[in-house]
Amino acid sequence: MATLVYSLKNVVKERIVENAGFRLVIPSIQIHAEENIALVGHSGCGKSTLLDMLALILCPDRTAGFEINPVDGKPHDVGRLWQLRKQSQLSQIRKQHIGYVLQSGGLLPYLTVRENIELPRRLLKLAKDDSIDSIARVLGINRQLDKLPGLLSAGERQRVAFARALSHRPSILLADEPTAALDPITARKIMAVVMELIRGLNITLITASHDWAHVYKMDLRTLRQEGRPVENGRIYQSTFKD
Ligand SMILES: Nc1ncnc2c1ncn2[C@@H]1O[C@H](COP(=O)(O)OP(=O)(O)O)[C@@H](O)[C@H]1O
Ligand SMILES: [Mg+2]
Repeated sequence: MATLVYSLKNVVKERIVENAGFRLVIPSIQIHAEENIALVGHSGCGKSTLLDMLALILCPDRTAGFEINPVDGKPHDVGRLWQLRKQSQLSQIRKQHIGYVLQSGGLLPYLTVRENIELPRRLLKLAKDDSIDSIARVLGINRQLDKLPGLLSAGERQRVAFARALSHRPSILLADEPTAALDPITARKIMAVVMELIRGLNITLITASHDWAHVYKMDLRTLRQEGRPVENGRIYQSTFKD
């Protein structure tokens, strides 16, 4: 049986100001190693909120269970770590095991492509090896390594963002609408290369998209989103279900 990488039960995050706002509810989600998952739903339905919680960046408001087990070992009780304010332990798990690609890439403009990709490895004090070059070759950005990100096309920048998210060999890859700003053909090409790259590397992919057509073309398990106004219409409550 594959490792249970994420196990969430009754996880709630609220964005409520003056009795109105947004509530994200996760009754139960279980994600196993090497699964490829899509969070699909309209803008504002809570995809980024859920990804930030899975990235251990955002603290849930309530949880009956939130465990992460990035490598086949003893699961970390994330709910408890948040409760005990063990931020440095959470950030250690994140740095070591998670790669996160944002919609806009989030590359540092004053570092070269190579320096951007190297960043997660330097934070972990990993030795220099040929991993940057080999990952850049597979993603087709090996000729851009010495350029600044500003000189690249949007598609190339997202390839760099993926290379950076993968350079420290995380076991979990999170991607927040990583191709939303690209034309459909470029978007499909990049996702195909990324899926090919992570296959066999024992990586669990969780990607968010508002575009059903885009996701249907990839081989992803979809978590269903449902939403409705509750509490006299003051709160929009959104649910993601297995
Ligand atoms: N930092 C924040 N403070 C308050 N409300 C927020 C914040 N981030 C997001 N929201 C609200 O939470 C809801 C879900 O947002 P988000 O997770 O970004 O959705 P999606 O990524 O699906 O577009 C939205 O109503 C948004 O306005
Ligand atoms: Mg979002």
